[in-house]
Amino acid sequence: MTVQGLTTTEAPFIENAQRNGELFIQQPYELYSDENQDTWQRLYRLIHPKWERYAAAEFLAGVEKLRLGPDAIPRLEDINRFLDPLSGFSARAVSGYVPAYIFFDCLRQRAFPTTITIRSGKRLEYLPEPDIFHDVAGHVPMHTDRKFADILVRFGEVARRAAARSREMEAVDGSDDKQDRLNAVRNTIKAMARFFWFTVEFGIMRQGRDIKVYGSGLLSSAGEIEYSIESADVQRYPLQLEWVINQYFEIDHYQPLLFVADSYEHVFDLVEQLETWMDAGRLDNVAPGEPHINEEDLKSFLAAGIEAKQQPVPQPT
Ligand SMILES: [Fe+2]
Repeated sequence: MTVQGLTTTEAPFIENAQRNGELFIQQPYELYSDENQDTWQRLYRLIHPKWERYAAAEFLAGVEKLRLGPDAIPRLEDINRFLDPLSGFSARAVSGYVPAYIFFDCLRQRAFPTTITIRSGKRLEYLPEPDIFHDVAGHVPMHTDRKFADILVRFGEVARRAAARSREMEAVDGSDDKQDRLNAVRNTIKAMARFFWFTVEFGIMRQGRDIKVYGSGLLSSAGEIEYSIESADVQRYPLQLEWVINQYFEIDHYQPLLFVADSYEHVFDLVEQLETWMDAGRLDNVAPGEPHINEEDLKSFLAAGIEAKQQPVPQPT
């Protein structure tokens, strides 16, 4: 008997996939319970008025283009039908945590690893782990915009360069330098994760006379989206690469510090600069602190450096 329900941390289908080592999966739509559907409806109704007030214009256009609505949890195949012609991106269902390199390399190939479970209806507010509301209602509308999509692809290219660089460093290493090299790779991943966090996840942007939200962590939190723009307790500074790569962050509370981009071109240019800095060794020793880069993240970069070839991503069915 198949057990109903695709609730975050309580989904037997997902536990099975993880046990079988399946990262890329299908979205078993029939398993969503009435409670799961009800959670989507409540979240969507709560956040929609906040989007109209605080979200970036490109995000609002994306919501329209993808025909997102409160009625039901979206089917990824429907989303992808609308999304693909706009930017070449697709949402690809995953069973859980995606190691850092594989995540970035999916972006390079215009695939977005997408969580299909939904948070418990008992706790609607922002939660640290992603769910389908964060991934599909928070991230995917931005992927309809070509300029934003190109930022993600460029991120993927920087990750690929980082992996290749780890291999090049190894070639010139004596064995005494191994720890230094691993430390440099770890720091590079940390710098990338911080930049990603303060832009793609928690970015705000000057648009005309206003500051608008384009970061999906904010766009999927009915409480924090308003707080990020209105609260006097939030520090908002112009986006600067040297600051962002050295700035630690914590994921379990509202962000006290946000960075204001001038435009999507501005963010794109900084991703390019990130690669230049990486090649110059400027990401090898960034300021310590969060996020912690775990062994799996590190290994994913080192393995990609060794393979020096494309990580296969399953094609949409
Ligand atoms: Fe996210």
